[in-house]
Amino acid sequence: MDFVLNDEHKMVQKMVRDFAQKEAAPLIKEYDRKREFPMQLLPRMAELGLLGVCIPVKYGGAGMDYISLGIVSEGLEWADSSARETIAVHTGLNSLTIFQWGTEAQKQRYLAPQARGEKIACFGLTESGAGSDVGAMTSHARRQGDGYVLNGEKMWITLADVADNFLVFAKTEPGEGNRGISAFIVERGFPGVTTGTIHGKMGVHASNTGWISLNDVFVPAENLLGQEGEGFKIAMSALDSGRYTVAAGAVGLMRACLEEAVGYAQERETFGKPIGQHQLVQQLIARMVQRIELAELYVYKVGWLKNQGSRNTRETSLAKWYTTEAAWATASDAVQVLGAYGYSDEYNVERHLRNVKGSVIYEGTSQIHELMQGAYALGYRRDKPLRCELPAYDPEVWQAEE
Ligand code: CAA
Repeated sequence: MDFVLNDEHKMVQKMVRDFAQKEAAPLIKEYDRKREFPMQLLPRMAELGLLGVCIPVKYGGAGMDYISLGIVSEGLEWADSSARETIAVHTGLNSLTIFQWGTEAQKQRYLAPQARGEKIACFGLTESGAGSDVGAMTSHARRQGDGYVLNGEKMWITLADVADNFLVFAKTEPGEGNRGISAFIVERGFPGVTTGTIHGKMGVHASNTGWISLNDVFVPAENLLGQEGEGFKIAMSALDSGRYTVAAGAVGLMRACLEEAVGYAQERETFGKPIGQHQLVQQLIARMVQRIELAELYVYKVGWLKNQGSRNTRETSLAKWYTTEAAWATASDAVQVLGAYGYSDEYNVERHLRNVKGSVIYEGTSQIHELMQGAYALGYRRDKPLRCELPAYDPEVWQAEE
């Protein structure tokens, strides 16, 4: 057992922390207030290799491992959830899923430009009436000639109005529930695709959340990801990657809350001494530390499992559930430490509190994860081997040019 980051991990950590501190954080407050996505961060994230961090070099990525993906997610969410959300959907839910299930042609055409950051990608699973219950989706795909015609509407899609490529799920067998779903790679330029932004969110104002409308969109057969009817498994495996980035990001958000709370508690005085010297404030701080340390250990255990190529659906679900709830409590405690200042956007903790509620809801609500954990423990749920597993990390393969 080794609890130490290697030199490559430390290098990624330093790079992402520098980027978060010097480039992302200074922009975020303004963009959060304007409720706009800071597009200028994308080329810089691409330049630093963050958008394809754990994708092999031969597919345009940086050739790092899955622990590095966690480090990037943690570092970005220290600045703001919106920055980490970009990684969650572009890298976690979309690119890694094409890496796992795609044909060589799909990897060359879609994965490589996405990993290089030349194209931005998102994940179209949820609908207005189908969130936790994926099989309730009504989007459908009808076979026509050498392709499929897609119709439907996706909702609550991160980066909907920003992305070039969409991984979209639709029913090819409408009567078959989960088993009737297929996955398609759709380009923004395909006739019949329109997108829009959803306004009025509680948090992550500097991220883009929207809808995708598919109106008689012809998708060539070569853009079917996996086989017909495999869409539900593909979506669930995508969530194994996405939920990991959410969990790692929650650690970064908690760190940001702790730092701000500690700094404030050391400065602010009441009753003749810094509030950090009051025991009830110390208790709030101590509980933050406890949550962060436990969350971090578990998140990086999941990253390690991914590196081994071990199936980690149970562990990823547990990590996502625990860390996001811990981050919700931590952000709330941080606001409490800062009192009225914490309630104002002069500081960052109120933004983190609003943002983290999204993490508790998307990529599987806490209730879905509790149900999964109960079912695993009782033996009602078991993970079966897949036709295509996410490959174990092998530095020689990941860093090879060809
Ligand atoms: N990887 C691959 N295959 C998987 C899998 C995984 N992680 N999990 C399940 N499967 C397979 C199973 O092995 C099973 O295969 P067989 O048919 O061969 O037996 C099949 O899929 C069905 O599995 P289950 O019986 O476990 O499916 P279920 O109906 O019990 O799943 C559920 C229920 C756990 C609630 C699941 O539907 C779920 O996780 N729902 C939440 C959906 C979700 O997280 N949505 C988030 C939307 S994305 C988003 O928020 C992104 C954004 O932009 C913000």
